[in-house]
Amino acid sequence: TEDSEYTGSHEDEVNKAIREAADLLRAGRTVAFPTETVYGLGADARSNEAVERIFSAKGRPSDNPLIVHIADLSQLDEIVLDVNDTARRLMEAYWPGPLTLVLPVRPGAVSPRVTAGLSTVAVRMPAHPIALRLIAAAGCPVAAPSANRSGRPSPTLASHVGEDLAGLIGGIVDGGPTGVGLESTVAEAGPDGTVTVLRPGSVTSEALARVAASVHTDPALHSGREENSPAPRSPGMKYTHYAPRGSLRIVRGQDPEAVAARVQAELAAAEARGEVTGVLAYDEHLHRYRASIVISLGPIGALETAAHRLYAGLRRFDEEGATFMVAEACPEEGVGVAVMNRLLKAAGDEVIDV
Ligand code: TXA
Ligand code: MG
Repeated sequence: TEDSEYTGSHEDEVNKAIREAADLLRAGRTVAFPTETVYGLGADARSNEAVERIFSAKGRPSDNPLIVHIADLSQLDEIVLDVNDTARRLMEAYWPGPLTLVLPVRPGAVSPRVTAGLSTVAVRMPAHPIALRLIAAAGCPVAAPSANRSGRPSPTLASHVGEDLAGLIGGIVDGGPTGVGLESTVAEAGPDGTVTVLRPGSVTSEALARVAASVHTDPALHSGREENSPAPRSPGMKYTHYAPRGSLRIVRGQDPEAVAARVQAELAAAEARGEVTGVLAYDEHLHRYRASIVISLGPIGALETAAHRLYAGLRRFDEEGATFMVAEACPEEGVGVAVMNRLLKAAGDEVIDV
């Protein structure tokens, strides 16, 4: 009869997916899983062979270290040597959550492929029930970069992971869309209470300053493509990321009217040249723009929406064959710092200041 076959509840299916994924991790394979930021591609952080599978699936340069994910504070002491007071207070305030801390690695605790030979390791405890359950079930620290091919936007849906990595990884746990949409904040706390932000994210400098004596940003993040610019302390920040296949530029300025006029002019000129145009803009101006692909980043006053939508928008440009794209800048405040950081990378620092 039609109901003789028990298909199982959603709950049962999630439990089964987590069990199977944990088995794969224990067997030294790779698994993509959701976190509150973006999907990660996980492997047993202790195993050279497992971690090697991450690098080869992603096509990732081997000098770019990975973040180790834990589900419980008891896993931390196995991985790191020493946690100073500031780092401890940051964990209390923001873990589980989208904050990665760079800490002195305990020699031999994780594969040297994870740390790329550095004396530090980046650790985070994700605030996502599937991620936490998977890591706990695997019973090991889980190294996990974003689950995209190197150079592509980070995945915010399981289908994005499939687009990039199908056939190259052990499996995917589908947990629906991720929350934040941009990768975690990476920070390092010095013994003097000073915190340095190596990669901006949704745990903002203002949020860190509520806990730390002072907060700085790695000066290399501001130096764009200038020659002789300092090397970023987070090795991954030196790579061009997220770049869409067409050409993307950002229009930035104090006067919203001037910004909108310039975006319109750029799009009109591109249309006239026969380009397939795209625009990434805030709701306030969206109605003014004509382009083949129009993507809303939400209201300018709620940049969490922009963070949540940015990567899917960049992927859509590629899917629909955009050759020329314009993005509106947002104020570099709060999560806007992270949005602009990723957008500038996507645009290869092509900015039109008006
Ligand atoms: O939200 C996230 O952080 C996601 C999810 C999956 O957790 N993961 C992620 O990983 O974005 P990935 O590999 O795409 O970015 C890791 C960043 C890179 O910029 C890398 O250079 C930096 O963290 N990093 C890793 N270990 C480091 C270390 N020991 N010192 C400084 N930076 C480090
Ligand atoms: Mg990444």
